[in-house]
Amino acid sequence: MPNGCLIAFEGTEGAGKTSQLQLAAEVLRRDGYRVLVTAEPGGTALGLEIRRLLLHRSDSAPTPLAELFLYLADRAQHVAEVIKPALSAGDVVLADRFTGSTIAYQGFGRNLDVEMIARVENWARSGVAPRLTVLLDCPVRVGLERARGCDRFHTETEAFHERVRQGFLRLAAERGWCVVDATQPEDEVHRHVMDAIRASLAGL
Ligand code: TMP
Repeated sequence: MPNGCLIAFEGTEGAGKTSQLQLAAEVLRRDGYRVLVTAEPGGTALGLEIRRLLLHRSDSAPTPLAELFLYLADRAQHVAEVIKPALSAGDVVLADRFTGSTIAYQGFGRNLDVEMIARVENWARSGVAPRLTVLLDCPVRVGLERARGCDRFHTETEAFHERVRQGFLRLAAERGWCVVDATQPEDEVHRHVMDAIRASLAGL
C-alpha cells in the first residue's frame, strides 16, 4: 500500500483549480510536506502527446468513445509513471483533474454510460484513488468568461458544460467530496481548500 496521499482538484472550465492547487502546494511545502503537483491530461511525455490529440481543434475530432479511451490511456500512463511512484515515496500528490473529470465530461457531458466508465476507469488507474477530492464549483457562464480558451472543450455548448457541472455536483454528493464555492474571493476559496486538505492529512 502506498503511504503518500493523492488529492484531486476538479471543476468546470475557469473554476480556478490550477491556481488553487498551486497555492495549496506552496502552503503544504512550507508545512514540510513533499508535494508533487501534476495534471491531466498531459502529466507524462506520452500524456502530452495525447493532450494535443484531445484538445487540438481539427477536422478529425475523436468520437465520444475514442475520446474516453484517450483520456484513460493518459491516466493509465500517468498513474504508472508518476502517481504510484510518488505515493510510494510518501509524497502528497496534488492532481489537477482525475477520475471525476472523466465521469463528469465523458459520462454526463458526452452521455456515455457512467457505470461502464466507472468500471473501466478504475482499471485504468489500477485502483489508485484520491484520499480527498476538492470540487471547485462555479456557474458555467462565470467560468467560461474567466477561462476564455479556444480548445475543443471551450467551444462546446453551454448545455454541455451545464451537464458537466451537474455531473460533478452529483458525484460530489454521492462520493463525499469537498465542494467549495469558487465564486468567492480567491483567499476565501484557499481557506476552505486548506481546511479540507488539513483535515484529510490529519487522518493519515
Ligand atoms: P484542463 O483545461 O484542466 O487542462 O483540462 C483539459 C480539458 O480536458 C478540460 O476541458 C476537461 C477535459 N477532460 C475530460 O474531458 N476528461 C478527463 O478525464 C480529463 C482529465 C479532462
